[in-house]
Amino acid sequence: MCGIVGVLGNHEVAPILVEALKRLEYRGYDSAGIATVQDGRLDRRRAVGKLVNLSDLLVHDPLPGKSGIGHTRWATHGGPTVANAHPHRTGRVAVVHNGIIENYKDIRALLKDTAFESETDTETVAGLCEAHLARGLTPREAAVETVKALEGAFALAFLFEGEEDLIVAARRGSPLAIGHGDGEMYVGSDALALGPMTNRITYLEEGDHAFVTRDGVEIFDAEGRRANREMREVAGTAAVADKGGHRHFMAKEIFEQPTVLAECLAHYAPGSAVEISGGKIDFVRTDRLLLVACGTAYYACLVAKYWFEQLAGLPCDVDIASEFRYREPPVSDRTAALFVSQSGETADTLAALRYARDKASTILSVVNVETSSIARESDLALPIMAGVEIGVASTKAFVCQLAALANLAILAARQKGRITAAREADLVAELRRIPALVNQALALEDRIRQHTGDLARAQTVLFLGRGAMFPLALEGALKLKEISYIHAEGYAAGELKHGPIALVDKSVPVVVLAPRDALFDKTVSNMQEVMAREGRIWLVTDPAGARTASDGVWQTLTMPEIDPLFAPILYAIPAQLIAYHTAVHKGTDVDQPRNLAKSVTVE
Ligand code: AGP
Repeated sequence: MCGIVGVLGNHEVAPILVEALKRLEYRGYDSAGIATVQDGRLDRRRAVGKLVNLSDLLVHDPLPGKSGIGHTRWATHGGPTVANAHPHRTGRVAVVHNGIIENYKDIRALLKDTAFESETDTETVAGLCEAHLARGLTPREAAVETVKALEGAFALAFLFEGEEDLIVAARRGSPLAIGHGDGEMYVGSDALALGPMTNRITYLEEGDHAFVTRDGVEIFDAEGRRANREMREVAGTAAVADKGGHRHFMAKEIFEQPTVLAECLAHYAPGSAVEISGGKIDFVRTDRLLLVACGTAYYACLVAKYWFEQLAGLPCDVDIASEFRYREPPVSDRTAALFVSQSGETADTLAALRYARDKASTILSVVNVETSSIARESDLALPIMAGVEIGVASTKAFVCQLAALANLAILAARQKGRITAAREADLVAELRRIPALVNQALALEDRIRQHTGDLARAQTVLFLGRGAMFPLALEGALKLKEISYIHAEGYAAGELKHGPIALVDKSVPVVVLAPRDALFDKTVSNMQEVMAREGRIWLVTDPAGARTASDGVWQTLTMPEIDPLFAPILYAIPAQLIAYHTAVHKGTDVDQPRNLAKSVTVE
């Protein structure tokens, strides 16, 4: 996905745009650019790679102007080159875009006289708008006619030659916020980007377009009617996201986990029982729960399946969002659907929600960004209280997703009469222990760091787990591969002998995530099978497990004791630290790994 920003300011906007783009860089960092209008003249600067390259360019080749738009790109159509960098422009219009224009080839075919310089879909938008200007439409009219012709998902901001007090904004499928300043106005992909300028935000709704001037904003709905959209004060965006003394945002966010986890747990169970407000959830009438997400959030759903089924006896289907609606799952009015998403903007998850919306009895979501599209389109959005997560690799959001899901599963168990109040109090109390246990697990960082050098040299790494630790093995593998670029796979430990064990030799580290639970002895057998083939085991277990199964293993990491039911929350910490320090050993870009973006708002 990409980040877009626009400013109608009273001061030079170039530095303001760059500052806003810094806060959007987590959305994509293949290239960046800005455009401004100065004395009626439209101009732009663009650079490939990180935002710092654009900043450097602007030092040597400044761009004056008090009206401007900016963009940071995650490449969809066309590689990361200057020619493909936004803003795209023609003679009189510049455009920045987040999303995908699906009919851009058809539009290009209509614009035979336009010499396109890029491979992008976005340049087609500028070309079409220019064509409308050429036939005499005003900038507002030209932008509106252009948007009408587009198919696909987009958030767009248009800037026009000769128009120093106008930005036209439009959204369909990708979020877009309007910021209200004092004599200034702003446009941004999210409130975080606008945090240094304002916390007064109006979110455009699906299909809206808006004419933004320094006096304010006129918003029109998908049918072209004037629309009133709520302006709200969005908290927590003004604080400049910094690393808090850590080397990377990811490290900062790993070490924030005890605090944010405690806040999340206290939010859902301030006393000895789960309290979920904000909407009626009726698990009594629910005979099936669909859990749908992508990536790390999907693995959180896989863990939660064990909790909903074991505690509440509630059958669960867990789907990868990009697969969900295409398998056409039967959804009855006794089926509830739950969508998990840190950003709340993941296109596949949002599309899955919209598929289920008029079929399922209830649309629930577990999100970190409470003003996101997924949150706003849910019957009830459950916040995870993790705070802004900048590192592309999700860490604190994952454990807070698990915490929220665990509380929801306990609520389901109570409503279905499967647990007593005393049992609920015990479960809540065990969850409340976890932040302190996370602190103890974080204290193992040096132990972990000492051995990740070996992992950094591996060509492939396996992660094994059983029961609810199997999804954690999947998550551990994802963490490692997405930031260290080392191939890693997570497997159910019992599945190893059905093929993957062919991968095992002395060059293959195998990370086993296994508290001493009812399945532990079976996992030990799998470990023996690995060691019989010279595989190197890194056993992550508790003291009882370490006492009984450390013989012959390469490394043992002893975790604090925890009820195995909730072990996936705690054991996420070593999985994160193993990935983090392996990546640091390799010198990869931990916070902005190649090819990735923090939230994928394109399908
Ligand atoms: C996780 O480390 C990855 N960055 C990625 O898999 C992520 O979890 C996935 O894209 C889903 O994002 P969301 O939670 O914002 O929907």
